[in-house]
Amino acid sequence: MKRDLLSLQDLTRPEIFRVLDLTEKVKSDRSGYQTALQGKSIALVFQKPSNRTRVSFEVGINQLGGNCIYLGPTEINLGVRESVEDVSKTLSRYLDGIIARTFYHQDIVELSKNSSISIVNGLSDLYHPCQALTDIFSFKEKVGTLEGRTLAYIGDGNNVCHSLLLACSKVGINMNIATPPGYEPDVEILKIAQASADLTNAKLFLTHDPLEASDGVDVIYTDVWVSMGQEEEQKKRLSDFQGFQINSNFFARANSNAIFMHCLPAHRDQEVSVEVIDGPQSIVFDQAENRLHTQKAILLFLMEGLSS
Ligand code: CP
Ligand code: NVA
Repeated sequence: MKRDLLSLQDLTRPEIFRVLDLTEKVKSDRSGYQTALQGKSIALVFQKPSNRTRVSFEVGINQLGGNCIYLGPTEINLGVRESVEDVSKTLSRYLDGIIARTFYHQDIVELSKNSSISIVNGLSDLYHPCQALTDIFSFKEKVGTLEGRTLAYIGDGNNVCHSLLLACSKVGINMNIATPPGYEPDVEILKIAQASADLTNAKLFLTHDPLEASDGVDVIYTDVWVSMGQEEEQKKRLSDFQGFQINSNFFARANSNAIFMHCLPAHRDQEVSVEVIDGPQSIVFDQAENRLHTQKAILLFLMEGLSS
């Protein structure tokens, strides 16, 4: 039976911890698993640009002995040159898996529905599950235990925020979310996260006051104010997010050893000040490195039947 990772709803709580454990193994044994994907071909079907996701998947697949094919917007032209259904059925005849980066999450769902191979979401408008798994791994690496810790997500209630909500609520991390009015996370995703949080005793707190969200937290996390595909909203968004730039005032309210996280790419002096992102509390490049290790673990988990 094929396994997909379209969103973190596809993984149970024990499976998330399994991926975290596997990531630790993969990271500490960098030359291990060299033949795990031997004879397997995986394509990256990307409609948007990428640095981290593309490079870390390509390198990771090669390190696991697999063959990786990058198919950018001009090659496949998903849903324009050919329907998502036909692309999916065709690629299923050649490949063992697809990492998809699309504008619409529904296109990733359609890829999954019409394929016999594993589909991994490499970012859609709704979710970024590989990022969130990496983030909780990176957080655990710094602080040891996850349950009962608090992460403040300050900024846009976007794809990165949604996946963090699902991840944190499942593993028991409290989450404070501060957005400007009108930029809150999706109500349905919040409901799903709240149901998980009820089981793990994680607390979810929403506010429009970014400083209040930083009180006593272990992590301050932010993302860009204008995501890919929202370029025409740039002017309005830059104005609506005034007061949400993470700077030292936020860290004065957080725990003294709090860390700063950002999925990257970042805009210095927009959503985060230079002193914070380039300061000692920032772990953004550890996060970026951990994309490689976590995604190797995700592929091993999905493809090699390592699911426990
Ligand atoms: N964080 C992240 O997904 O980066 P890229 O858009 O560069 O892949
Ligand atoms: N929210 C951002 C994340 C980029 C990794 C975007 O979708 O552009």
